Amino acid sequence: MHDQLEYDILIIGSGAAGLSLALKLADQSNVAILSKDALIEGATLYAQGGVSAVLDKHDSIESHVQDTLTTGAGLCNSEIVRFVVERAQESIDWLVDMGVDFTRSNESAKTTSPFHLHKEGGHSHRRVIHAADATGKAIETTLESRVRKHKNIELFEHHVAVDLITTHKLSKNRRRCTGAYVLDSRKKKVKVFRARNVVLATGGAGKVYLYTSNPDSCTGDGIAMASRIGCRIANMEFIQFHPTCLYHPMAKSFLISEALRGEGAKLLLKNGNEFMHRYDKRQELAPRDIVAKAIDHEMKRLGHDCVYLDISNKSTEFIEQHFPNIYKHCLNLGINISAEPIPVVPAAHYTCGGVLINKNGQTDMPGLYAIGEVSYSGLHGANRMASNSLLECFVFAHSAYKHIQQNLSESDMPERIPEWDESRVTNSDEEVVVSHNWDEIRRFMWDYVGIVRTTKRLHRAHHRIKLLQSEITEYYGNFRITKDLIELRNLALVAELIIKSALRRKESRGLHYTTDFPVTNNIDTPKDTIIESKKITNNHIAA
Ligand code: FAD
Ligand code: SIN
Repeated sequence: MHDQLEYDILIIGSGAAGLSLALKLADQSNVAILSKDALIEGATLYAQGGVSAVLDKHDSIESHVQDTLTTGAGLCNSEIVRFVVERAQESIDWLVDMGVDFTRSNESAKTTSPFHLHKEGGHSHRRVIHAADATGKAIETTLESRVRKHKNIELFEHHVAVDLITTHKLSKNRRRCTGAYVLDSRKKKVKVFRARNVVLATGGAGKVYLYTSNPDSCTGDGIAMASRIGCRIANMEFIQFHPTCLYHPMAKSFLISEALRGEGAKLLLKNGNEFMHRYDKRQELAPRDIVAKAIDHEMKRLGHDCVYLDISNKSTEFIEQHFPNIYKHCLNLGINISAEPIPVVPAAHYTCGGVLINKNGQTDMPGLYAIGEVSYSGLHGANRMASNSLLECFVFAHSAYKHIQQNLSESDMPERIPEWDESRVTNSDEEVVVSHNWDEIRRFMWDYVGIVRTTKRLHRAHHRIKLLQSEITEYYGNFRITKDLIELRNLALVAELIIKSALRRKESRGLHYTTDFPVTNNIDTPKDTIIESKKITNNHIAA
Protein backbone atom coordinates (compact mmCIF):
# COMPACT_ATOMS: atom_id res chain seq x y z
CA MET A 1 0.00 0.00 0.00
CA HIS A 2 1.35 3.47 -0.93
CA ASP A 3 1.05 6.68 1.04
CA GLN A 4 -1.71 8.88 -0.26
CA LEU A 5 -1.04 12.62 -0.35
CA GLU A 6 -3.53 14.85 1.51
CA TYR A 7 -4.23 18.57 1.01
CA ASP A 8 -7.00 21.01 1.78
CA ILE A 9 -6.96 22.06 -1.86
CA LEU A 10 -5.51 20.35 -4.91
CA ILE A 11 -5.02 22.76 -7.81
CA ILE A 12 -4.38 21.09 -11.15
CA GLY A 13 -2.56 23.65 -13.28
CA SER A 14 -0.02 26.41 -12.68
CA GLY A 15 -0.96 29.16 -15.14
CA ALA A 16 -2.53 32.53 -14.33
CA ALA A 17 -5.65 30.88 -12.90
CA GLY A 18 -4.01 28.19 -10.77
CA LEU A 19 -1.21 30.32 -9.31
CA SER A 20 -3.52 33.24 -8.47
CA LEU A 21 -5.92 30.96 -6.63
CA ALA A 22 -3.10 29.21 -4.76
CA LEU A 23 -1.66 32.49 -3.51
CA LYS A 24 -5.05 33.66 -2.28
CA LEU A 25 -5.85 30.39 -0.46
CA ALA A 26 -2.48 29.54 1.01
CA ASP A 27 -2.50 31.85 4.00
CA GLN A 28 -5.28 29.77 5.58
CA SER A 29 -5.04 26.35 3.88
CA ASN A 30 -2.46 23.91 2.63
CA VAL A 31 -2.37 23.75 -1.13
CA ALA A 32 -0.83 21.41 -3.71
CA ILE A 33 -0.25 22.64 -7.25
CA LEU A 34 0.27 20.18 -10.09
CA SER A 35 1.97 21.12 -13.31
CA LYS A 36 2.46 18.64 -16.06
CA ASP A 37 5.69 20.26 -17.24
CA ALA A 38 7.92 22.84 -15.54
CA LEU A 39 5.84 25.18 -13.37
CA ILE A 40 5.88 28.18 -15.71
CA GLU A 41 4.95 26.27 -18.90
CA GLY A 42 1.42 26.88 -20.20
CA ALA A 43 -0.47 29.41 -22.31
CA THR A 44 -0.05 32.15 -19.71
CA LEU A 45 3.72 32.32 -20.25
CA TYR A 46 3.21 33.17 -23.94
CA ALA A 47 0.44 35.77 -23.60
CA GLN A 48 1.46 38.92 -25.42
CA GLY A 49 -1.21 41.63 -25.72
CA GLY A 50 -2.26 41.99 -22.08
CA VAL A 51 -5.22 42.13 -19.70
CA SER A 52 -8.35 44.12 -20.49
CA ALA A 53 -9.60 46.53 -17.83
CA VAL A 54 -11.29 49.92 -17.73
CA LEU A 55 -8.42 52.11 -16.49
CA ASP A 56 -8.89 55.34 -18.45
CA LYS A 57 -11.46 57.88 -17.34
CA HIS A 58 -12.72 58.32 -20.92
CA ASP A 59 -13.57 54.61 -20.98
CA SER A 60 -16.44 53.01 -19.04
CA ILE A 61 -17.61 49.69 -17.58
CA GLU A 62 -20.67 50.02 -19.82
CA SER A 63 -18.50 50.21 -22.92
CA HIS A 64 -16.36 47.19 -21.93
CA VAL A 65 -19.54 45.21 -21.19
CA GLN A 66 -21.09 46.20 -24.51
CA ASP A 67 -17.95 45.38 -26.55
CA THR A 68 -17.72 41.95 -24.89
CA LEU A 69 -21.40 41.23 -25.60
CA THR A 70 -21.10 42.33 -29.22
CA THR A 71 -17.98 40.22 -29.80
CA GLY A 72 -19.67 37.22 -28.12
CA ALA A 73 -22.33 37.25 -30.87
CA GLY A 74 -25.38 37.05 -28.63
CA LEU A 75 -24.27 34.09 -26.53
CA CYS A 76 -22.54 35.72 -23.55
CA ASN A 77 -24.19 35.59 -20.15
CA SER A 78 -24.65 39.33 -19.59
CA GLU A 79 -24.69 38.99 -15.81
CA ILE A 80 -21.31 37.22 -15.88
CA VAL A 81 -19.91 39.77 -18.33
CA ARG A 82 -20.76 42.60 -15.93
CA PHE A 83 -19.51 40.57 -12.94
CA VAL A 84 -16.09 40.15 -14.62
CA VAL A 85 -15.75 43.61 -16.11
CA GLU A 86 -16.61 45.28 -12.77
CA ARG A 87 -13.85 43.30 -11.04
CA ALA A 88 -11.09 44.12 -13.56
CA GLN A 89 -9.69 47.09 -11.65
CA GLU A 90 -9.29 45.07 -8.41
CA SER A 91 -7.60 42.25 -10.36
CA ILE A 92 -5.08 44.69 -11.80
CA ASP A 93 -4.49 46.24 -8.35
CA TRP A 94 -3.79 42.74 -6.98
CA LEU A 95 -1.32 41.99 -9.80
CA VAL A 96 0.46 45.29 -9.21
CA ASP A 97 0.65 44.45 -5.47
CA MET A 98 2.11 41.07 -6.37
CA GLY A 99 4.84 42.95 -8.24
CA VAL A 100 3.88 42.65 -11.92
CA ASP A 101 5.77 45.40 -13.74
CA PHE A 102 3.23 46.71 -16.28
CA THR A 103 4.44 49.19 -18.90
CA ARG A 104 3.94 52.77 -17.70
CA SER A 105 2.34 55.48 -19.76
CA ASN A 106 4.45 58.17 -21.39
CA GLU A 107 3.63 61.82 -21.99
CA SER A 108 2.38 61.28 -25.52
CA ALA A 109 -0.20 58.67 -24.40
CA LYS A 110 -3.78 59.56 -25.15
CA THR A 111 -5.22 58.09 -21.90
CA THR A 112 -5.44 59.20 -18.27
CA SER A 113 -4.13 55.89 -16.93
CA PRO A 114 -0.67 55.76 -15.31
CA PHE A 115 -0.19 52.61 -17.41
CA HIS A 116 0.20 52.41 -21.15
CA LEU A 117 -2.93 50.83 -22.69
CA HIS A 118 -3.15 48.86 -25.94
CA LYS A 119 -6.15 48.70 -28.23
CA GLU A 120 -7.18 45.34 -29.68
CA GLY A 121 -9.93 43.91 -31.89
CA GLY A 122 -13.52 44.46 -30.71
CA HIS A 123 -12.50 47.04 -28.07
CA SER A 124 -13.84 50.52 -28.66
CA HIS A 125 -11.23 52.06 -26.31
CA ARG A 126 -7.61 51.61 -25.34
CA ARG A 127 -8.03 49.27 -22.34
CA VAL A 128 -5.41 46.53 -22.50
CA ILE A 129 -2.77 46.86 -19.78
CA HIS A 130 0.46 45.07 -20.67
CA ALA A 131 4.14 44.48 -19.97
CA ALA A 132 5.56 45.43 -23.40
CA ASP A 133 4.65 42.47 -25.65
CA ALA A 134 5.39 39.74 -23.10
CA THR A 135 2.63 40.31 -20.55
CA GLY A 136 2.14 36.63 -19.77
CA LYS A 137 5.80 36.16 -18.94
CA ALA A 138 5.75 39.11 -16.54
CA ILE A 139 2.65 37.75 -14.78
CA GLU A 140 3.67 34.08 -14.71
CA THR A 141 7.22 34.67 -13.44
CA THR A 142 6.03 37.13 -10.78
CA LEU A 143 3.42 34.70 -9.45
CA GLU A 144 5.89 31.81 -9.74
CA SER A 145 8.42 33.54 -7.51
CA ARG A 146 5.67 34.05 -4.91
CA VAL A 147 4.36 30.46 -4.88
CA ARG A 148 7.89 29.05 -4.69
CA LYS A 149 8.43 30.95 -1.45
CA HIS A 150 5.11 30.16 0.23
CA LYS A 151 5.37 27.66 3.07
CA ASN A 152 1.79 26.36 2.64
CA ILE A 153 2.14 25.62 -1.08
CA GLU A 154 3.69 22.39 -2.31
CA LEU A 155 4.63 22.21 -5.97
CA PHE A 156 4.52 19.04 -8.04
CA GLU A 157 6.15 19.73 -11.41
CA HIS A 158 6.10 17.06 -14.13
CA HIS A 159 3.02 15.54 -12.49
CA VAL A 160 0.16 14.78 -14.89
CA ALA A 161 -3.37 14.40 -13.54
CA VAL A 162 -4.87 11.33 -15.16
CA ASP A 163 -8.39 11.22 -13.78
CA LEU A 164 -10.48 12.83 -11.08
CA ILE A 165 -11.72 10.69 -8.22
CA THR A 166 -15.28 10.87 -6.95
CA THR A 167 -16.62 9.24 -3.78
CA HIS A 168 -19.56 7.39 -5.23
CA LYS A 169 -17.39 4.29 -5.63
CA LEU A 170 -16.52 4.20 -1.95
CA SER A 171 -19.68 4.95 -0.08
CA LYS A 172 -23.31 5.80 -0.60
CA ASN A 173 -22.73 9.48 0.25
CA ARG A 174 -23.56 12.14 -2.25
CA ARG A 175 -21.04 12.04 -5.05
CA ARG A 176 -18.18 14.42 -4.52
CA CYS A 177 -14.79 15.00 -6.09
CA THR A 178 -12.20 13.89 -3.55
CA GLY A 179 -8.91 13.88 -5.41
CA ALA A 180 -7.05 12.70 -8.47
CA TYR A 181 -4.81 9.98 -9.82
CA VAL A 182 -1.59 11.65 -10.91
CA LEU A 183 1.33 10.32 -12.97
CA ASP A 184 4.74 11.41 -11.76
CA SER A 185 6.14 11.40 -15.28
CA ARG A 186 9.79 11.34 -14.15
CA LYS A 187 9.41 8.43 -11.73
CA LYS A 188 6.78 6.78 -13.96
CA LYS A 189 4.57 6.18 -10.95
CA VAL A 190 0.90 6.96 -10.36
CA LYS A 191 0.20 8.72 -7.05
CA VAL A 192 -3.08 9.30 -5.26
CA PHE A 193 -3.88 12.85 -4.15
CA ARG A 194 -6.78 13.34 -1.74
CA ALA A 195 -8.23 16.79 -1.10
CA ARG A 196 -11.25 18.52 0.43
CA ASN A 197 -11.57 20.51 -2.79
CA VAL A 198 -10.10 20.03 -6.24
CA VAL A 199 -9.66 22.82 -8.79
CA LEU A 200 -9.15 22.38 -12.51
CA ALA A 201 -6.94 25.18 -13.87
CA THR A 202 -5.59 23.16 -16.77
CA GLY A 203 -6.05 25.67 -19.61
CA GLY A 204 -7.34 25.10 -23.13
CA ALA A 205 -7.12 22.58 -25.95
CA GLY A 206 -5.43 24.31 -28.91
CA LYS A 207 -3.25 21.25 -29.55
CA VAL A 208 -6.27 19.44 -30.94
CA TYR A 209 -5.50 21.36 -34.15
CA LEU A 210 -2.48 20.92 -36.41
CA TYR A 211 -1.68 24.64 -36.44
CA THR A 212 -1.97 26.47 -33.15
CA SER A 213 -0.52 29.35 -31.19
CA ASN A 214 -0.72 27.19 -28.04
CA PRO A 215 2.17 25.50 -26.26
CA ASP A 216 2.32 21.70 -26.01
CA SER A 217 0.54 21.58 -22.64
CA CYS A 218 -2.81 22.69 -24.10
CA THR A 219 -4.38 19.27 -24.67
CA GLY A 220 -7.72 19.87 -22.96
CA ASP A 221 -6.99 17.51 -20.05
CA GLY A 222 -9.27 19.26 -17.58
CA ILE A 223 -12.20 19.37 -19.99
CA ALA A 224 -11.78 15.65 -20.69
CA MET A 225 -11.39 14.71 -17.02
CA ALA A 226 -14.48 16.69 -16.01
CA SER A 227 -16.48 15.21 -18.86
CA ARG A 228 -15.50 11.70 -17.82
CA ILE A 229 -16.99 12.21 -14.35
CA GLY A 230 -20.20 13.54 -15.84
CA CYS A 231 -19.78 17.35 -15.63
CA ARG A 232 -21.54 19.33 -18.34
CA ILE A 233 -19.33 20.77 -21.06
CA ALA A 234 -20.56 23.87 -22.87
CA ASN A 235 -20.11 25.49 -26.29
CA MET A 236 -17.10 23.53 -27.50
CA GLU A 237 -17.81 24.40 -31.14
CA PHE A 238 -16.43 27.88 -30.49
CA ILE A 239 -12.70 27.51 -31.11
CA GLN A 240 -11.01 30.83 -31.67
CA PHE A 241 -8.49 31.08 -34.49
CA HIS A 242 -6.05 33.93 -34.00
CA PRO A 243 -5.67 35.72 -37.34
CA THR A 244 -1.93 36.36 -37.16
CA CYS A 245 0.53 33.61 -36.25
CA LEU A 246 3.96 33.84 -37.81
CA TYR A 247 4.25 31.81 -41.02
CA HIS A 248 7.84 30.55 -41.13
CA PRO A 249 9.24 27.00 -41.27
CA MET A 250 11.34 27.59 -38.13
CA ALA A 251 8.58 29.26 -36.08
CA LYS A 252 6.60 26.83 -33.96
CA SER A 253 3.43 28.49 -32.63
CA PHE A 254 4.67 32.10 -32.56
CA LEU A 255 1.99 34.75 -32.24
CA ILE A 256 2.10 38.23 -33.76
CA SER A 257 0.03 40.17 -31.25
CA GLU A 258 -3.21 41.86 -32.19
CA ALA A 259 -1.73 44.91 -30.47
CA LEU A 260 0.26 45.53 -33.69
CA ARG A 261 -3.03 46.05 -35.50
CA GLY A 262 -4.07 48.28 -32.58
CA GLU A 263 -1.06 50.47 -33.44
CA GLY A 264 -2.02 50.65 -37.11
CA ALA A 265 -0.49 47.52 -38.73
CA LYS A 266 -2.25 46.61 -41.99
CA LEU A 267 -3.08 43.20 -43.45
CA LEU A 268 -1.89 42.83 -47.04
CA LEU A 269 -2.06 40.32 -49.84
CA LYS A 270 1.10 39.14 -51.60
CA ASN A 271 0.68 41.94 -54.18
CA GLY A 272 0.66 44.55 -51.40
CA ASN A 273 -3.09 45.27 -51.59
CA GLU A 274 -5.15 45.77 -48.44
CA PHE A 275 -8.31 43.67 -48.14
CA MET A 276 -9.96 44.04 -44.72
CA HIS A 277 -12.09 47.01 -45.85
CA ARG A 278 -13.97 44.53 -48.09
CA TYR A 279 -15.04 42.50 -45.02
CA ASP A 280 -15.80 44.88 -42.15
CA LYS A 281 -15.87 48.60 -41.56
CA ARG A 282 -13.67 48.13 -38.46
CA GLN A 283 -11.10 46.63 -40.86
CA GLU A 284 -8.03 45.23 -39.03
CA LEU A 285 -9.68 45.83 -35.64
CA ALA A 286 -12.83 43.83 -36.29
CA PRO A 287 -13.30 40.90 -33.86
CA ARG A 288 -11.07 37.90 -34.50
CA ASP A 289 -13.67 35.62 -36.06
CA ILE A 290 -14.20 38.18 -38.85
CA VAL A 291 -10.49 38.83 -39.46
CA ALA A 292 -9.53 35.12 -39.38
CA LYS A 293 -12.38 34.22 -41.76
CA ALA A 294 -11.38 37.02 -44.15
CA ILE A 295 -7.76 35.83 -44.23
CA ASP A 296 -8.85 32.20 -44.70
CA HIS A 297 -11.10 33.27 -47.58
CA GLU A 298 -8.38 35.30 -49.31
CA MET A 299 -5.80 32.52 -48.92
CA LYS A 300 -8.19 29.92 -50.38
CA ARG A 301 -9.43 32.26 -53.14
CA LEU A 302 -5.91 33.06 -54.32
CA GLY A 303 -4.26 29.75 -53.42
CA HIS A 304 -1.75 31.58 -51.22
CA ASP A 305 0.02 30.04 -48.20
CA CYS A 306 -0.16 33.18 -46.07
CA VAL A 307 -1.03 36.88 -45.99
CA TYR A 308 1.15 39.70 -44.61
CA LEU A 309 0.98 42.08 -41.67
CA ASP A 310 2.74 45.36 -42.20
CA ILE A 311 3.82 47.70 -39.40
CA SER A 312 6.78 49.16 -41.29
CA ASN A 313 5.13 52.61 -41.33
CA LYS A 314 6.18 52.91 -37.65
CA SER A 315 9.74 53.86 -36.75
CA THR A 316 12.21 51.19 -35.68
CA GLU A 317 12.43 52.95 -32.32
CA PHE A 318 8.65 52.71 -31.79
CA ILE A 319 8.59 49.03 -32.75
CA GLU A 320 11.57 48.16 -30.55
CA GLN A 321 9.98 49.97 -27.63
CA HIS A 322 6.45 48.53 -27.97
CA PHE A 323 7.10 45.07 -29.40
CA PRO A 324 10.68 44.14 -28.41
CA ASN A 325 9.98 40.42 -28.15
CA ILE A 326 8.24 40.12 -31.53
CA TYR A 327 10.83 42.37 -33.19
CA LYS A 328 13.74 40.27 -31.90
CA HIS A 329 12.09 36.93 -32.63
CA CYS A 330 11.33 37.89 -36.23
CA LEU A 331 14.78 39.41 -36.74
CA ASN A 332 16.37 36.14 -35.61
CA LEU A 333 14.38 34.43 -38.36
CA GLY A 334 15.56 36.98 -40.94
CA ILE A 335 12.44 39.20 -40.97
CA ASN A 336 13.00 42.88 -40.15
CA ILE A 337 9.47 43.96 -39.24
CA SER A 338 10.39 47.65 -39.27
CA ALA A 339 11.23 47.36 -42.97
CA GLU A 340 9.13 44.53 -44.43
CA PRO A 341 5.72 42.88 -43.93
CA ILE A 342 5.44 39.79 -41.72
CA PRO A 343 4.06 36.55 -43.27
CA VAL A 344 1.10 35.40 -41.11
CA VAL A 345 -1.61 32.72 -41.04
CA PRO A 346 -4.53 32.02 -38.71
CA ALA A 347 -4.09 29.24 -36.12
CA ALA A 348 -6.17 27.71 -33.33
CA HIS A 349 -5.72 29.97 -30.33
CA TYR A 350 -8.38 29.80 -27.65
CA THR A 351 -11.00 27.31 -26.41
CA CYS A 352 -14.08 29.43 -25.73
CA GLY A 353 -16.13 26.49 -24.45
CA GLY A 354 -15.29 24.30 -21.49
CA VAL A 355 -16.45 22.95 -18.15
CA LEU A 356 -19.67 24.70 -17.19
CA ILE A 357 -19.26 26.77 -14.02
CA ASN A 358 -21.17 29.31 -11.99
CA LYS A 359 -19.99 32.64 -10.57
CA ASN A 360 -18.02 30.83 -7.84
CA GLY A 361 -16.19 28.61 -10.30
CA GLN A 362 -18.20 25.59 -9.12
CA THR A 363 -18.79 22.77 -11.60
CA ASP A 364 -21.67 20.27 -11.50
CA MET A 365 -19.63 18.01 -9.20
CA PRO A 366 -19.53 19.03 -5.52
CA GLY A 367 -15.94 19.62 -4.43
CA LEU A 368 -14.77 20.37 -7.98
CA TYR A 369 -14.08 23.88 -9.27
CA ALA A 370 -12.83 24.96 -12.71
CA ILE A 371 -11.26 28.34 -13.47
CA GLY A 372 -9.51 29.95 -16.44
CA GLU A 373 -9.50 28.66 -20.00
CA VAL A 374 -10.65 25.15 -18.98
CA SER A 375 -14.02 26.58 -17.94
CA TYR A 376 -17.09 28.01 -19.60
CA SER A 377 -18.34 30.83 -17.39
CA GLY A 378 -20.50 32.61 -19.96
CA LEU A 379 -18.04 35.51 -20.37
CA HIS A 380 -16.97 34.77 -23.94
CA GLY A 381 -20.14 33.42 -25.56
CA ALA A 382 -19.57 32.56 -29.22
CA ASN A 383 -16.31 34.53 -29.49
CA ARG A 384 -13.83 35.81 -26.91
CA MET A 385 -12.80 39.43 -27.09
CA ALA A 386 -9.04 39.98 -27.05
CA SER A 387 -7.40 40.08 -23.61
CA ASN A 388 -10.57 39.10 -21.75
CA SER A 389 -9.20 35.64 -20.95
CA LEU A 390 -6.42 36.57 -18.55
CA LEU A 391 -8.94 38.84 -16.86
CA GLU A 392 -11.31 35.87 -16.50
CA CYS A 393 -8.51 33.85 -14.84
CA PHE A 394 -7.99 36.49 -12.15
CA VAL A 395 -11.65 37.25 -11.48
CA PHE A 396 -12.65 33.58 -11.14
CA ALA A 397 -9.54 32.76 -9.08
CA HIS A 398 -10.84 35.36 -6.64
CA SER A 399 -14.46 34.23 -6.59
CA ALA A 400 -13.46 30.54 -6.26
CA TYR A 401 -11.11 31.50 -3.41
CA LYS A 402 -13.95 33.24 -1.57
CA HIS A 403 -16.29 30.30 -2.02
CA ILE A 404 -13.75 27.63 -1.07
CA GLN A 405 -12.69 29.61 1.97
CA GLN A 406 -16.25 30.11 3.21
CA ASN A 407 -17.15 26.44 2.78
CA LEU A 408 -13.94 24.64 3.73
CA SER A 409 -15.13 23.63 7.19
CA GLU A 410 -18.05 21.73 5.64
CA SER A 411 -15.84 19.50 3.50
CA ASP A 412 -14.08 16.71 5.43
CA MET A 413 -10.83 15.16 4.34
CA PRO A 414 -11.91 12.19 2.18
CA GLU A 415 -11.27 8.61 3.26
CA ARG A 416 -8.67 6.40 1.61
CA ILE A 417 -9.14 5.93 -2.09
CA PRO A 418 -8.45 2.73 -4.08
CA GLU A 419 -4.87 2.59 -5.36
CA TRP A 420 -4.05 2.77 -9.06
CA ASP A 421 -3.97 -0.81 -10.31
CA GLU A 422 -1.37 -1.84 -12.89
CA SER A 423 -1.75 -5.57 -12.39
CA ARG A 424 -3.70 -5.95 -15.65
CA VAL A 425 -1.52 -3.85 -17.94
CA THR A 426 1.95 -4.15 -19.49
CA ASN A 427 4.48 -1.78 -21.08
CA SER A 428 3.52 -0.78 -24.60
CA ASP A 429 5.42 -2.38 -27.47
CA GLU A 430 3.77 -0.11 -30.05
CA GLU A 431 4.34 3.55 -29.17
CA VAL A 432 3.76 4.34 -32.84
CA VAL A 433 0.00 3.94 -32.24
CA VAL A 434 0.14 6.94 -29.91
CA SER A 435 2.17 9.22 -32.19
CA HIS A 436 0.19 8.23 -35.28
CA ASN A 437 -3.18 8.90 -33.63
CA TRP A 438 -1.96 12.23 -32.23
CA ASP A 439 -1.05 13.38 -35.76
CA GLU A 440 -4.20 12.02 -37.34
CA ILE A 441 -6.56 13.78 -34.94
CA ARG A 442 -4.79 17.11 -35.29
CA ARG A 443 -4.76 16.93 -39.08
CA PHE A 444 -8.42 16.00 -39.62
CA MET A 445 -9.54 18.53 -37.01
CA TRP A 446 -7.68 21.20 -39.02
CA ASP A 447 -9.04 20.01 -42.37
CA TYR A 448 -12.63 19.15 -41.36
CA VAL A 449 -13.44 21.19 -38.23
CA GLY A 450 -11.56 24.43 -38.95
CA ILE A 451 -12.53 28.05 -39.57
CA VAL A 452 -15.14 27.23 -42.23
CA ARG A 453 -17.19 24.06 -41.67
CA THR A 454 -19.71 21.92 -43.56
CA THR A 455 -22.02 19.24 -42.20
CA LYS A 456 -20.48 16.66 -44.51
CA ARG A 457 -16.96 17.36 -43.24
CA LEU A 458 -18.16 17.32 -39.63
CA HIS A 459 -19.72 13.88 -40.20
CA ARG A 460 -16.46 12.66 -41.71
CA ALA A 461 -14.60 13.93 -38.66
CA HIS A 462 -17.14 12.29 -36.34
CA HIS A 463 -16.73 8.95 -38.07
CA ARG A 464 -12.95 9.15 -37.77
CA ILE A 465 -12.90 10.17 -34.13
CA LYS A 466 -15.16 7.25 -33.19
CA LEU A 467 -12.76 4.80 -34.88
CA LEU A 468 -9.74 6.36 -33.25
CA GLN A 469 -11.41 6.42 -29.86
CA SER A 470 -12.08 2.71 -29.87
CA GLU A 471 -8.44 2.09 -30.79
CA ILE A 472 -7.24 4.46 -28.06
CA THR A 473 -9.58 2.96 -25.43
CA GLU A 474 -8.31 -0.53 -26.20
CA TYR A 475 -4.71 0.65 -26.05
CA TYR A 476 -5.33 2.56 -22.81
CA GLY A 477 -6.91 -0.50 -21.23
CA ASN A 478 -3.96 -2.77 -22.00
CA PHE A 479 -0.84 -0.70 -21.48
CA ARG A 480 0.92 1.22 -18.72
CA ILE A 481 0.10 4.92 -19.08
CA THR A 482 2.54 7.59 -20.27
CA LYS A 483 2.13 11.38 -20.55
CA ASP A 484 1.63 11.09 -24.33
CA LEU A 485 -1.05 8.44 -23.93
CA ILE A 486 -2.92 10.46 -21.26
CA GLU A 487 -2.88 13.49 -23.55
CA LEU A 488 -3.95 11.50 -26.59
CA ARG A 489 -6.93 10.05 -24.72
CA ASN A 490 -7.91 13.57 -23.65
CA LEU A 491 -7.38 15.12 -27.10
CA ALA A 492 -9.60 12.47 -28.64
CA LEU A 493 -12.41 13.18 -26.19
CA VAL A 494 -12.09 16.94 -26.65
CA ALA A 495 -12.11 16.51 -30.45
CA GLU A 496 -15.32 14.50 -30.10
CA LEU A 497 -16.88 17.21 -27.93
CA ILE A 498 -15.98 19.89 -30.50
CA ILE A 499 -17.35 17.87 -33.43
CA LYS A 500 -20.57 16.91 -31.61
CA SER A 501 -21.17 20.50 -30.51
CA ALA A 502 -20.52 21.81 -34.03
CA LEU A 503 -22.97 19.29 -35.49
CA ARG A 504 -25.64 20.33 -33.00
CA ARG A 505 -25.44 24.02 -33.88
CA LYS A 506 -27.60 24.46 -36.96
CA GLU A 507 -26.61 28.06 -37.61
CA SER A 508 -23.50 30.18 -38.03
CA ARG A 509 -22.67 32.30 -35.01
CA GLY A 510 -19.43 33.91 -33.84
CA LEU A 511 -16.58 31.46 -34.29
CA HIS A 512 -18.78 28.66 -35.64
CA TYR A 513 -19.26 29.21 -39.37
CA THR A 514 -20.82 26.50 -41.53
CA THR A 515 -21.70 26.90 -45.19
CA ASP A 516 -24.75 24.63 -44.70
CA PHE A 517 -26.32 27.08 -42.21
CA PRO A 518 -24.66 30.39 -43.10
CA VAL A 519 -27.17 32.58 -41.26
CA THR A 520 -27.43 33.35 -37.54
CA ASN A 521 -30.81 32.26 -36.17
CA ASN A 522 -32.80 35.32 -35.37
CA ILE A 523 -33.96 34.43 -31.87
CA ASP A 524 -34.04 36.40 -28.61
CA THR A 525 -32.28 33.88 -26.41
CA PRO A 526 -29.87 31.74 -28.40
CA LYS A 527 -29.02 28.42 -26.80
CA ASP A 528 -25.73 27.15 -25.40
CA THR A 529 -24.61 23.75 -26.66
CA ILE A 530 -24.37 21.57 -23.58
CA ILE A 531 -22.96 18.05 -23.64
CA GLU A 532 -23.54 15.71 -20.72
CA SER A 533 -21.37 12.64 -20.95
CA LYS A 534 -21.95 9.33 -19.35
CA LYS A 535 -19.49 8.22 -16.69
CA ILE A 536 -16.60 6.32 -18.28
CA THR A 537 -15.03 3.40 -16.43
CA ASN A 538 -11.30 3.01 -16.00
CA ASN A 539 -9.43 -0.26 -16.24
CA HIS A 540 -6.55 1.02 -14.10
CA ILE A 541 -8.57 1.45 -10.92
CA ALA A 542 -9.31 -1.46 -8.60
CA ALA A 543 -13.05 -2.18 -8.56
P1 FAD B 1 -2.55 27.88 -18.70
O1 FAD B 1 -1.76 29.11 -18.52
O2 FAD B 1 -2.53 27.24 -20.03
O3 FAD B 1 -2.02 26.84 -17.62
C1 FAD B 1 -2.49 25.51 -17.61
C2 FAD B 1 -1.71 24.73 -16.59
O4 FAD B 1 -2.31 23.45 -16.41
C3 FAD B 1 -0.26 24.45 -16.97
O5 FAD B 1 0.50 24.63 -15.80
C4 FAD B 1 -0.25 22.96 -17.33
O6 FAD B 1 0.96 22.31 -17.05
C5 FAD B 1 -1.32 22.46 -16.39
N1 FAD B 1 -1.96 21.21 -16.79
C6 FAD B 1 -2.71 20.96 -17.89
N2 FAD B 1 -3.12 19.68 -17.89
C7 FAD B 1 -2.63 19.11 -16.77
C8 FAD B 1 -2.69 17.81 -16.21
N3 FAD B 1 -3.35 16.81 -16.80
N4 FAD B 1 -2.04 17.57 -15.04
C9 FAD B 1 -1.34 18.55 -14.42
N5 FAD B 1 -1.25 19.80 -14.91
C10 FAD B 1 -1.89 20.07 -16.06
N6 FAD B 1 -5.15 36.08 -23.25
C11 FAD B 1 -5.25 37.36 -22.84
O7 FAD B 1 -6.17 37.70 -22.10
N7 FAD B 1 -4.35 38.29 -23.27
C12 FAD B 1 -3.31 37.99 -24.09
O8 FAD B 1 -2.49 38.84 -24.41
C13 FAD B 1 -3.18 36.64 -24.54
N8 FAD B 1 -2.20 36.29 -25.39
C14 FAD B 1 -2.04 34.97 -25.72
C15 FAD B 1 -0.96 34.59 -26.51
C16 FAD B 1 -0.74 33.25 -26.77
C17 FAD B 1 0.43 32.84 -27.63
C18 FAD B 1 -1.63 32.27 -26.26
C19 FAD B 1 -1.41 30.82 -26.55
C20 FAD B 1 -2.73 32.65 -25.51
C21 FAD B 1 -2.94 33.99 -25.22
N9 FAD B 1 -4.02 34.40 -24.45
C22 FAD B 1 -4.12 35.70 -24.06
C23 FAD B 1 -4.88 33.42 -23.81
C24 FAD B 1 -4.41 33.23 -22.35
O9 FAD B 1 -3.00 33.25 -22.33
C25 FAD B 1 -4.91 31.95 -21.74
O10 FAD B 1 -6.29 31.84 -21.91
C26 FAD B 1 -4.60 31.92 -20.25
O11 FAD B 1 -3.22 32.16 -20.04
C27 FAD B 1 -5.00 30.58 -19.67
O12 FAD B 1 -4.54 30.51 -18.35
P2 FAD B 1 -4.86 29.22 -17.51
O13 FAD B 1 -4.26 29.44 -16.17
O14 FAD B 1 -6.29 28.90 -17.61
O15 FAD B 1 -4.08 28.04 -18.29
C1 SIN C 1 -2.66 38.96 -28.76
O1 SIN C 1 -1.77 39.59 -28.19
O2 SIN C 1 -2.99 39.14 -29.94
C2 SIN C 1 -3.37 37.90 -28.00
C3 SIN C 1 -4.38 38.52 -27.15
C4 SIN C 1 -5.40 37.52 -26.72
O3 SIN C 1 -5.39 36.37 -27.16
O4 SIN C 1 -6.26 37.90 -25.93
